[in-house]
Amino acid sequence: MSGRARRKGPAPAASAAPAIRTRTPGELRRSRRPRAHSCWDHLYAAPLWPLHGANLGTLLRTCDAVGACLTVPRFPWVPEALERGNTLRRPACVHWTGDPLGWLERQRERGLRVVGVELADEAVRLADLPAAREPTVMVLGHEQHGIPPEALDLLDGVVEIPMVGTGASLNVAVAGSLVLYRLAGLL
Ligand SMILES: C[S@@+](CC[C@H](N)C(=O)[O-])C[C@H]1O[C@@H](n2cnc3c(N)ncnc32)[C@H](O)[C@@H]1O
Repeated sequence: MSGRARRKGPAPAASAAPAIRTRTPGELRRSRRPRAHSCWDHLYAAPLWPLHGANLGTLLRTCDAVGACLTVPRFPWVPEALERGNTLRRPACVHWTGDPLGWLERQRERGLRVVGVELADEAVRLADLPAAREPTVMVLGHEQHGIPPEALDLLDGVVEIPMVGTGASLNVAVAGSLVLYRLAGLL
């Protein structure tokens, strides 16, 4: 038992809180999409400079959850990194690029907005980030070095996640997932 003293006297009146009933597996199955979504060309998570051997599967799952695509560089170790932490039973929407800066430039040319997840004076706080009304790329930097300087001019804006912990308390997959949910308008 915890350090708190046990209450004496009559039992408290029953709580007015609603009785919570979780959804059954059948209800969940009926309310969910039976197949993986196709490429919606609306939201892109782009960890274009991933740390070697990073877990990319967790971010891929978030992409599936919010209807986003994932863009990754074509390094030999990336397919294995996509498997790490990935419990999806069906393939998700993955785009490959050999040239991160060129890929970002092409997305801007075809009218996509490019938002970086980064610590910067110009950054908006996560809670102030509106849902994406136009096709948007969310750019993630390297786990330790962030978004490289040569890519900063290709960003239309930057979002920062307020933290009370140390730098080590946030990883790229979690940072990307938080921002993706906001951009998708689900949070
Ligand atoms: C998510 S962090 C991981 C930080 C790393 N674990 C560390 O110990 O510094 C990866 C990159 O995102 C950026 N970043 C760090 N904290 C951030 C925050 N609170 N909001 C937005 N971007 C952040 C930095 O550029 C950092 O290099």
